[in-house]
Amino acid sequence: MKPGKSTLIAIIALATLPSLAKPLNAQFPPDSLTNLQVLPEDMSVGALINVMRGFSGALGVRCQYCHVGEANQPLAQFDFASDEKETKEKARVMLRMLGHINGEHLDELPSRSEVAVEVSCETCHRGQARPVLISDSLRYAYRNGGVDALETSYRELRNRYYGSHTYDFRSFILSNLANEMGRAGNFADVEQVMALNLEFFPDNPRVRGAYAMASVEAAMNTSGAAAGRAAFDDALGRFSAALFTDNALNAMGYRLLGSGKTAEAVEVFKINTELHPNSANAFDSLGEGHMNNGDRDEAIAAYEKSLELNPQNPNAVSTLERLRAN
Ligand code: HEC
Ligand code: HEC
Repeated sequence: MKPGKSTLIAIIALATLPSLAKPLNAQFPPDSLTNLQVLPEDMSVGALINVMRGFSGALGVRCQYCHVGEANQPLAQFDFASDEKETKEKARVMLRMLGHINGEHLDELPSRSEVAVEVSCETCHRGQARPVLISDSLRYAYRNGGVDALETSYRELRNRYYGSHTYDFRSFILSNLANEMGRAGNFADVEQVMALNLEFFPDNPRVRGAYAMASVEAAMNTSGAAAGRAAFDDALGRFSAALFTDNALNAMGYRLLGSGKTAEAVEVFKINTELHPNSANAFDSLGEGHMNNGDRDEAIAAYEKSLELNPQNPNAVSTLERLRAN
């Protein structure tokens, strides 16, 4: 079924309507509408203006974004019927798309909620002309200008939009981006992004933990085991040791081991055994680190300790046998 035009108007009129800043001039609103191609031609001027205010609010723009006219010009001097601006034509495409979504696709649902939810311009646009998600916006900045560009962009967006529904500024946005950077091996960037997150979420334990870990991992990767240890000592002075969990440190050690940074991996495994002296797994990993580093005696000592903490550790038993045989 083709969408009825009256449904379309009802939907669009649902959007909140910010009032115009300019006082209405005598020649505005116009007497008649001459170039409606999607909205009903017989629509009243008042209803149309409400729809237009809805567009402007949903996209966070003024009338001149789609119509021929200047910011400082009275609306009476605008040429609203003109199709000169491409954005107006794009808005027509959007209007037709909305008609299809609300009139056809949503109608195909086997059932609708009691108060049917209709899609409006605002559903997608949320106060911006191009409905971009903050993660995509920041990824784009990062790809083009690196981590400093990402940081600048985040600060600007936050200054401008915080408190609105345009962008999501919860902590996981930056955390997820930092994780992507970590998977790509850009540990210094991870640290910078987590420091930025910490600035805005200083009391969030997950953010604090992620920053503390990131600062150690960045130093281990870029400056070696001694610098990594110094970064750890520094982080311990600022944050609670509880933020350095057994699992997280263990995983960091294996990432370092996987990228051939054996001495740094051993340092991280050591830190883990110091913080978690009862963790059989931490000593097992330390044993593996020493073994990779060619330190047979230290490897044996670590596996023995692991076995002492957990006599059921079959890996320690078999590895110890092999080590002792050599
Ligand atoms: C996002 C783009 C967009 C914005 C912003 C916008 N309009 Fe429109 N406007 C349109 C489109 C598209 C049409 C034509 C609709 C159609 O073809 O059915 C239109 C048509 C009109 C018309 C009818 C012109 C005619 O005679 O056919 C008037 C009047 C108008 N707009 C006024 C405004 C005013 C006032 C504002 C600011 C409050 C505004 N518009 C903001 C897109 C926009
Ligand atoms: C289902 C989501 C969705 C809805 C609903 C929607 N839009 Fe869009 N709109 C988009 C997307 C996505 C783009 C960006 C397309 C691109 O450039 O890649 C866009 C772009 C636009 C643009 C062009 C912006 C520019 O600067 O290039 C205008 C104007 C626009 N929309 C107006 C509207 C209006 C008016 C409505 C309501 C009648 C509306 N949109 C409803 C998703 C939507």
